[in-house]
Amino acid sequence: MVGFHQARRPRQTTGARLRRELSWPRPAGVLISLLGAALIFNGAVALADSTDASVVSVASSSPSLNTTPVTSQALVAPADPASTAPASAPSSATATATVSPDLAVSGVTAAPIAPVTTPPVLLVKGSVAGAPVQKLFAARTATAAAGDKTVLDVFNPKSTLVLVNKRNALKPLAHVPADLVTPAVAVGSGEPGLLRAEAASAAERMFGAAAAQGVSITLMSSYRSYDTQVGLYNGYAAEKGAEAADTTSAHPGFSEHQTGLAIDIGDGKAGNACDFRSCSAETAAAQWVAAHGADYGFLVRYLTGSEAVTGYWAEPWHLRYVGVEVAQDVVALGIPTYEEYLGLPGAPGYK
Ligand code: DAL
Ligand code: ZN
Repeated sequence: MVGFHQARRPRQTTGARLRRELSWPRPAGVLISLLGAALIFNGAVALADSTDASVVSVASSSPSLNTTPVTSQALVAPADPASTAPASAPSSATATATVSPDLAVSGVTAAPIAPVTTPPVLLVKGSVAGAPVQKLFAARTATAAAGDKTVLDVFNPKSTLVLVNKRNALKPLAHVPADLVTPAVAVGSGEPGLLRAEAASAAERMFGAAAAQGVSITLMSSYRSYDTQVGLYNGYAAEKGAEAADTTSAHPGFSEHQTGLAIDIGDGKAGNACDFRSCSAETAAAQWVAAHGADYGFLVRYLTGSEAVTGYWAEPWHLRYVGVEVAQDVVALGIPTYEEYLGLPGAPGYK
């Protein structure tokens, strides 16, 4: 049965009812107009914020590399003094803006009409805004657990991303990694070495993969303590002079070997003649790690042509573990040095 008021009320189309409800100054129309104004205002503020952010980003990016040539008398790299020794928590940073269907009907057009998602950004502390390493981590969809935020710090010696060069000593200078283990790999000289656990596992996989392809990689040197580096550097400086020593051997506290993330390799089938010498680049072992090392997280750290950035003559035998994700990214981008990958200045000399 039809009620009294309904029976007497004139029928309206849906469009007519909407126009009536949304027309000023009815309460619903007032509300919609206020919402529309608020959204327009918010959009303007967001635009201003993003403009400021991009200005900051541009201003703080791309420091020029120090390209001061490395001073050295030698044209062929002399032997390395080392030859005498050793995931994730779910994101909470996703913001979504939605617009009422009513607003679309009312003709408000300035506000965003699609969901706006802000992806989580993992910045690598110490690297430069816009540097390749930041793009890699910003592109990741997973966010860091609390512990990862310490790991993603290029000046933290506990980080596998730590940068150590002539401008950036380990802090503290006599740092000792907490998780050193002996990797189960073929040893080419001296005693079985030590590496941080993650690098040791990676080295075992890499040496094993090479062996499976008939290439014999041997471990010539791995973790070296501050005191060990004192002896190596001083011995080399006494023999060749400090200037020549500085092109091949790091000062104590400035060597990647002290991080427990660096190894020097030899070729078990090539004899010792090219150990720690530029001709090692011709060995099967060196060529194999140059081609495949990144797949196990290792970079050939000191390349020919990058002496002015790294501060050292090329060392085809010296590998640095940075993790598979970063190592593969560096190689895929064709970036020759870790300094450039981080957007940081080269280190041709001690500052
Ligand atoms: N030979 C490298 C640079 C070192 O001494 O760490
Ligand atoms: Zn080395």
